[in-house]
Amino acid sequence: MIVLKDISKLRSLLSDVRKTKTIGFVPTMGFLHEGHISLVKMCKESTEFTVVSIFVNPTQFAPTEDLNRYPRDEKGDLEKLENAGTDLVFFPDKATMYPGGFQTYVEVQELTKPLCGATRGTSHFRGVSTVVAKLFNMVQPDKAFFGKKDFQQLAVIKQMVKDLNYPVEIIPGETVRENDGLAMSSRNSYLSPADRKSSVCLSRGLFLARDKYHAGDIRIDEIELFAADFIKANAPQSRIDYVQCLDADKLTIPTPETKNLVLACAVFFQRTRLIDNVTFTVS
Ligand code: PAJ
Repeated sequence: MIVLKDISKLRSLLSDVRKTKTIGFVPTMGFLHEGHISLVKMCKESTEFTVVSIFVNPTQFAPTEDLNRYPRDEKGDLEKLENAGTDLVFFPDKATMYPGGFQTYVEVQELTKPLCGATRGTSHFRGVSTVVAKLFNMVQPDKAFFGKKDFQQLAVIKQMVKDLNYPVEIIPGETVRENDGLAMSSRNSYLSPADRKSSVCLSRGLFLARDKYHAGDIRIDEIELFAADFIKANAPQSRIDYVQCLDADKLTIPTPETKNLVLACAVFFQRTRLIDNVTFTVS
């Protein structure tokens, strides 16, 4: 496995690889878990050269957020990537990605407004789309892999690729969960044992709301309240940031034309903000 920190070395190596092989790319912020590794495995199955980036991107964190305490484990990450059969890890530092004088950003305007965009501020997704655009320009992959766990992020990246004509295919990966259903996340490591135990109510609440809706027990306009009440009842110490049911294709309030729904939530346990979502069809 090759590990590079330098953009010009990355470019020259990949320009050789590209002559004979398709290139797949998995961008990450490190502290890797099975969710990340599932994307690496998908990448290996459908492309011939797998590139993974590890970069904790400062532009997607608000000043009040957890950039400095974001967990890091360089050695463990490299071991996991090597075991998964990664070909190349790109591990740039901050000065490489954002040299002094940096002033250009990519902004997806509509899909960034609801959900996490509404509560974290649109600068979060501006940071995500900017860093992913930069990484796409450096790696120039044929396919790039993003988890459905970050449903809005996936939608934003797909839109950016479409709008800016990036020659890359975006492939979504299913959310990988712990045995009790909690979506895997680097941030789960912050949870106290008690909060870890009750955090299972996020996935349970979302899945139960979906099932009750499909069973005809609740109406579409009752889904959000049902899930939020379930979370409040099972994790009274938590603070709900949002629980919202939207048109999954447009991320807007469902209309009679809506076919697919996403029920998404963000919930704080102390300072740790967890997100999850479930997608389903209108019945
Ligand atoms: P990070 O949170 O490290 O996630 C990297 C990729 O792993 C994302 O595509 C994310 O959706 C996916 N992922 C995370 N948890 C997952 C899970 N439980 N199951 C499946 N996939 C999961 O997302 C980011 O980093 C950053 O915003 C990034 C895109 C790298 C830009 O900085």
